Amino acid sequence: MTTKTGLALVDRDDDGVDRAFRNDVLEGLAQPQKAVPARWLYDDAGSQLFEDITQVEEYYPTRAETEILQQRGADFAAAIGQGRAVVEFGSGSSVKTPLLLSQIEPAAYVPLDIAGDFLRAAAADLAAKFPGLPVHPVEADFMRRVELPESVSDMPKLGFFPGSTIGNMVPRTAVDLLRTMRETLGASSKLLIGMDLIKNREVLKAAYDDAKGVTAEFNLNLARRINRELGGTIPVEQLAHEARWNDDFARIEMHLVAQQDMAFEVAGCEFSLKKGESIHTENSHKFSRRSGSTLLLAGGWTPVERWLDSEERFSLILAEATIARSAP
Ligand code: AVI
Repeated sequence: MTTKTGLALVDRDDDGVDRAFRNDVLEGLAQPQKAVPARWLYDDAGSQLFEDITQVEEYYPTRAETEILQQRGADFAAAIGQGRAVVEFGSGSSVKTPLLLSQIEPAAYVPLDIAGDFLRAAAADLAAKFPGLPVHPVEADFMRRVELPESVSDMPKLGFFPGSTIGNMVPRTAVDLLRTMRETLGASSKLLIGMDLIKNREVLKAAYDDAKGVTAEFNLNLARRINRELGGTIPVEQLAHEARWNDDFARIEMHLVAQQDMAFEVAGCEFSLKKGESIHTENSHKFSRRSGSTLLLAGGWTPVERWLDSEERFSLILAEATIARSAP
């Protein structure tokens, strides 16, 4: 399964409960604005629902990014050059990867993901498509510095982080991740990163609240997961999915909103929500050219090229590891 935000390796208690999940949920539900970190949306059902979201009419990011990868291959080849080891962060099913690899003649491919079995199966598929390309899957949490295989140590690296997954992190976490990626990849590396763009808010809201209700199911699945894995009694049928545009922070927020006053338990602890209160479950930040550049610069990356799809909804940015020097 695709791990969108780099789950930590699972540490279970004697009852098989994921300790990190329980801690995050209990801590998050105790806040005045209840919130659960978005990474917990991706159990097996949630990962499948996310794959379904990428196919719905209103959810444009996957199609827009794929269009860029399909149409701008010659530009990538010119800007990136040949002979790099491509390191993909949170590679999952690696569906967009062949589009990139077929254009830039890489020296090796290193997919990083936390979901080991899935990672190895996807890596084997990819190796079959690119005979002669060394493929070295690494099972790792990419939120931390990763030791890359010895065989690619002398190669210049290209980090690949598509999908605008960076937008699911608050800026502080995104900057930490960008810095960590720089440490993983080394000083002469480049990074090709997807960033979704700020646009008409109705288009944005529809992308996160599709008419078929797939995104609503994705969001509600988190409450079901809490009930199933943490002995919860959340009345899921009394929660409604809501996608809100937060203009101050330029992000879509997903919430689960109580349709009436409710009281419930999770892992033996009691919680309540008044009608209209919510559990905040995800942020999806959107970027302008400048805000995207600022984030990259803060993370130690200098943007050098930027490509958009034909409707200018989504960007793929090529950045270089910033050379450390004294100001300015
Ligand atoms: C994975 N990530 C980039 C998606 C996004 O667009 O923020 C997750 C998603 N949430 C609801 N729909 C899609």
